[in-house]
Amino acid sequence: MKAVRFHEYGDPGVLLYEDVERPVPGAGEVRIRVAATSFNPVDDGIRGGYLQGPFPVALPHTPGIDVSGTVDALGDGVTNVAVGDPVIGFLPMTADGAAAEYVVAPAEILAPAPTSIPLPDAAALPMVGLTAWQALFDDAGLTAGQRVLINGAGGAVGGYAVQLAKHAGAHVIATASPRSSERVAAAGADEVIGLVVAISALSTVVPVNRIVLPVLASGSPPSGRSVNGAPVCVPPPIHCPTT
Ligand SMILES: NC(=O)c1ccc[n+]([C@@H]2O[C@H](COP(=O)([O-])OP(=O)(O)OC[C@H]3O[C@@H](n4cnc5c(N)ncnc54)[C@H](OP(=O)(O)O)[C@@H]3O)[C@@H](O)[C@H]2O)c1
Repeated sequence: MKAVRFHEYGDPGVLLYEDVERPVPGAGEVRIRVAATSFNPVDDGIRGGYLQGPFPVALPHTPGIDVSGTVDALGDGVTNVAVGDPVIGFLPMTADGAAAEYVVAPAEILAPAPTSIPLPDAAALPMVGLTAWQALFDDAGLTAGQRVLINGAGGAVGGYAVQLAKHAGAHVIATASPRSSERVAAAGADEVIGLVVAISALSTVVPVNRIVLPVLASGSPPSGRSVNGAPVCVPPPIHCPTT
């Protein structure tokens, strides 16, 4: 089969399109005929060699942690999916990924593919969707009736976070620049505010340390910078002035 691999860490130039053996699923695994994968910031870090500590991959390595595709073969003991099932999954981060015609995955990590969108498009869901879920529910413990500020809601993670928070019954306040505000509103945000407004909104939306608040409200803090034409401040508390 064909696969994209890198034999050494480096910039995108290390990626090679080459012939490799078609993988065989072991016990508890399935082989998926790949419809699509997607690339996220972590893929860049792994390929560049910056994340060898947390994600030590064996070289040569096939990237692509997200997958959508069709179950092609079953390993021993697999009962939760059948050959021909359309599935999506967030693959183990150090195993060979889905930038290939086929990929092997643990059966237990697979979910049925959504039916309302084309199967290749569904590869954009797993990692960003799980990131949004983890932030909202595992980390923040969001529940119905709460107000939540989703910063950067126009992005991939933010877009899912808006939808998930709204579905959970929260009042969703989202920041977005003009290029994204319409899409964020369509995703279900109750309020969409610009990035500059968000600085003052922080004082009423999220608990903010009393020392940090004046820095945010000033609009031109020492650590502020211009992003997409808007002055934006995300000062880490340890760098905020104490007087
Ligand atoms: N993608 C993943 O799988 C993943 C996994 C774990 C963690 N993360 C982290 O999650 C964050 C978002 O990732 P992403 O993939 O969703 O990125 P993305 O698709 O590039 O979206 C980022 C969004 O942030 C907004 N933005 C940029 N600068 C901003 C600022 N200073 N203040 C407020 N909003 C700002 C932009 O909104 P506008 O469009 O409105 O300009 C942009 O759409 C990143 O920190 C990333 O490292 C991502």
